Amino acid sequence: MAPILSGKRIVLGVSGGIAAYKAVTLASRLTQANALVDVIMTHSAAKFVAPVTFQGITQRSVATDTFEFWHDAGRLRIGHVALAHAADLFIIAPATAHTIARLALGLSDDLLSITALSYKGPMLLAPAMETNMWTHPATMGNVQTLRDWGVDFIGPEEGRLASGEVGEGRVAEPEDIFEVACKVIGRGGPLDGLRVVITAGGTREPIDPVRFMGNHSTGKMGAALARAARDLGAETVLVHAPLAVPPPGGVSLVPVHTAQQMYAAVMEELPQTDVLIGAAAVADYRPSDSVNYKLKKSPQQQVISLERTPDILHEVGRQRGEASPGPQLVIGFAAETNDLEANAVDKLERKNLDLVVLNDVSAPDSGFAVDTNRVTLFERDGNREAWPLMSKDEVAQAIMQRIVARLGRLDWKRSQPKAEDGSIESR
Ligand code: C5P
Repeated sequence: MAPILSGKRIVLGVSGGIAAYKAVTLASRLTQANALVDVIMTHSAAKFVAPVTFQGITQRSVATDTFEFWHDAGRLRIGHVALAHAADLFIIAPATAHTIARLALGLSDDLLSITALSYKGPMLLAPAMETNMWTHPATMGNVQTLRDWGVDFIGPEEGRLASGEVGEGRVAEPEDIFEVACKVIGRGGPLDGLRVVITAGGTREPIDPVRFMGNHSTGKMGAALARAARDLGAETVLVHAPLAVPPPGGVSLVPVHTAQQMYAAVMEELPQTDVLIGAAAVADYRPSDSVNYKLKKSPQQQVISLERTPDILHEVGRQRGEASPGPQLVIGFAAETNDLEANAVDKLERKNLDLVVLNDVSAPDSGFAVDTNRVTLFERDGNREAWPLMSKDEVAQAIMQRIVARLGRLDWKRSQPKAEDGSIESR
C-alpha cells in the first residue's frame, strides 16, 4: 500500500495508442491505493479503450468533452478548470508524440491539452510511440522543453512495439508508472533534501562459480523501507543483494552480491548519506578458499573453511564522529532467534547505532520471506517499544515516521507548489 496516494486527486490523461489498454491497469492500481482518479481521454484513446472501462474501475466519471461542466461545491464549473485546480498529480499514460507536441506548444484543442495547460502541479508522462517517432528531433525537442519546465518522464522502454518491430518506444509498465507516481507526489515531503541509503537482501558468498552460501532473506523489508523513504521525499538509494521481490521504482539501485561488495558500495555512499538503514542479511563468514572452477563430488567428506566478512554497520559506527560528517542517523536490524533483547542492546552499543529494530525470525509471522513483521524498537536513549504485528510496508512507514521525528521534521510543510484547492463533488 502507498498511503502517500490515499485521498489524492490524480488526473490520468490517456492519449490514443494501442498502449491505452495498459492505462486501465494503472487506473486500477491508483484507485486501489485510495487515490481519486479522474480519467481524461482523447477522442482517439476512446477508440482503443471504451471510457466505460475506466469509469467502472475508477468509479468516477470519465471526461472526453471540453464543453462539459462539473458540479463543484454547489456550482457548475468548466470541466478543465475544475479538474486542473483539484489535481495533486497529472499523469499522461500513454503519452503519444502528438500529445507531447501539443503540451510543448501550449495548444489547447481538446480537454486533455486544455486541462494540462490550466494545471500547475507535478506532471508525469509515460511516452509510447514507434522508435522513429520517439527519436525524431521534433519529439526529442518537445520532451526537452517539457523536462525544462519540470515535467517528469518515465520510459519509454525497449521492447516489442505495436508495429511488431522491436525498439525504444514501448510504454513503461503500469507498476513502474505507479511507483514513480508515488515518488513524484511525495517530493517536498518531510525527508526532502536528505539522502537515505538502505541495504537489503541476503548476500551470496561464492564457494565456486555455481554454488554460494546464502540465507533466507528476500529483501522485502528493505524494499518496503526504500518505498517509504521515497514517498516522504528522500533521495533514496537501495544497495541490494539479490532480491526475491521486484525492486522499488523511483529509487537508485546499487546491485551487489557479496558482503565485501556491499561494504564497498556503502562506504562509497557514506560521505553523502544522511540516514543509513542496514536491513540486509549480510553474511558474517565467507568461504576462505573459493575456487574459480566447479568442485567435483568425491567420496571424501568436504570441509569448507570460512573467514570473516567486513561488518558494514560496525565500520560505519566506528567512523562516526571522525572528520567526515557521516550520517545523522544509523539504524540496524537484529534478526534473532534467541536472547532477543540482549542481542539487540549489544548491537546498539557495539555498532554505535541510534536505533535497532529487533525481529524474532523464529516466529512464523515475522522475519524472513513473510509479508508481516513483529518488531521491537531499541533506541539509544534507552527507549523501548514493542509494536504489534504489521505488514512490512506498515513497519517501514512507522520507522520512517520515527526517523522524521528524530530529525525534527514532524511539522514539515510540503515545499512543493500546490494547485489552489477546488474539491469537486461529482459531475
Ligand atoms: O550483529 P549482526 O550481524 O546480527 O547485526 C545485524 C545488523 O548489522 C543488520 O542491520 C545488518 O544489516 C548489519 N550487518 C552489517 N554487516 C555485516 C553483518 C550485519 O552491516 N557483516
